[in-house]
Amino acid sequence: MIFLSNKNPSQFTGDILIYFVREPTKRGAPVCSDVLIQERINHAYQVGDCRGKNEETLLIYPERVFDGVKAKRLLIVGLGKDELNREMFRRAGGVVAQKALAVKAEKLFIVVPEELNFSAEEMTECLCEGLILGSYQFKKYQTKTNEDEKKAEIKKISLYLSQTSSATARKALKRGIAAGNAGNAARDMANEPGNVWTPQAFADYAKKITTGSGLRCKIIEKAEMKRMKMGGILGVNQGSAQAPKLVQLEYRTGKKVPTLLLVGKGLTFDSGGLSLKPSAGMEDMKYDMCGGAAVITAMEVIASEKPKNVDVVALVPATENLPASSAIKPGDIINQYGGKSVEVINTDAEGRLILADALAYGVKKFNPDAIVDLATLTGAVIVGLGNHMTGLLSNNDELAEKVIDSGKKAGEPMWRLPLNDDYRKQIKSEVADIKNIGGKGAGTITAAAFLEEFVGETPWVHLDIAGTAWNYTEKPYIPKKGPVGIGVRSLIELVRDWK
Ligand code: BES
Ligand code: ZN
Ligand code: ZN
Repeated sequence: MIFLSNKNPSQFTGDILIYFVREPTKRGAPVCSDVLIQERINHAYQVGDCRGKNEETLLIYPERVFDGVKAKRLLIVGLGKDELNREMFRRAGGVVAQKALAVKAEKLFIVVPEELNFSAEEMTECLCEGLILGSYQFKKYQTKTNEDEKKAEIKKISLYLSQTSSATARKALKRGIAAGNAGNAARDMANEPGNVWTPQAFADYAKKITTGSGLRCKIIEKAEMKRMKMGGILGVNQGSAQAPKLVQLEYRTGKKVPTLLLVGKGLTFDSGGLSLKPSAGMEDMKYDMCGGAAVITAMEVIASEKPKNVDVVALVPATENLPASSAIKPGDIINQYGGKSVEVINTDAEGRLILADALAYGVKKFNPDAIVDLATLTGAVIVGLGNHMTGLLSNNDELAEKVIDSGKKAGEPMWRLPLNDDYRKQIKSEVADIKNIGGKGAGTITAAAFLEEFVGETPWVHLDIAGTAWNYTEKPYIPKKGPVGIGVRSLIELVRDWK
């Protein structure tokens, strides 16, 4: 819980009082906005402990004699000396959250450094994101109640702003909280094991968030998929005992505005199918639904913020990919929604098959002005970009720039890869229109070339999040292990800034 407070920081009696300081460009102690705390910082600086370096922390236990602080602890967090940006505050929020959890602090009071040369509104928003994302824990399956092992929980965070209008501060707080919570909700979905987070769970969640939100929700069931000839989702689902679902959520302004279509891969467990994956690390393939999680949790925020200038439709094709006597086989030929035929060379390249149906159906049904899809689509993107950047492919420069900018604002970097006829040729089939793998080389690009076949002329961006959805580059507000909630904030920013 994060609140605004106008109580004097010196009167706070809770667990940690937090100040942020910059690293001076010349020699000298970092400067703090509170004179009494400045003495403490000067002292620590003389000992050699407080430089104000980025993400540096100094934990002080004030004695009685030091009457400027009533809190149990005082935490000084460095912001470094580089030019301030949104990500620095997100990280700073994460640093605070991690420190608080480490000492099992429950009540925090944060003095927002309004004196710094950066928008107080944005720093408040990003601090909130960092605090919420940084305090994320997924403990529900651990039954231990041992006191020592019991994880701490931050119960109340107060943010102190003295120079910013409360309306501005409140707005920033709300945005930050919404984005942070959405990221954590996406992490929760991904952390759930494959036996719990099934296609049905996606459908149930979508229905649940529809209540009172103004969103329209429709679950396209297997029988309807058959009527609509969605051979991709049905084909991938053939070996699974869980029914497939195509989740459809609509946010409508009621005005004549552009429509943005979001599509997320909701593969709730990817064993590879008959082209079975190696067993080492296969458990991670419960995360193969992170694209779907990002899309649905972003929709939740969009529905509550109610943007006026864009309609947003979300589609999440959800199924498992398992081997069975009924499973789809290498060499099988299927027809995607709309009729295009696909030779399935490798059943592990299943994401593109389920996305193709959703994309083609989305284009036909909603005639969108732009499409963004997110998918843990290829291991190849990790070879190319590692675990630091999301791969972006597009048929439209303007939309690509827009999405990259949203990613920058959200602290989710993306790198565009090329897409041209040389790559498109790689997926031509001898027996069908196209095949589902592109042979040697450029696996991420040929996967995108496959998807491109189903968007027609619609401006489209594909985000390959296989390298960033988990095992992500370490950040104070991202768990060392487990899902990141990648894409959620980029989507929210994209819609907030839609022009
Ligand atoms: N879900 C995987 C992609 C993946 C791999 C995500 C590693 C995260 C980490 C996808 O369905 C897949 O298996 N892709 C294959 C495609 C190949 C058969 C052309 C891959 O990348 O190996
Ligand atoms: Zn696969
Ligand atoms: Zn997959």
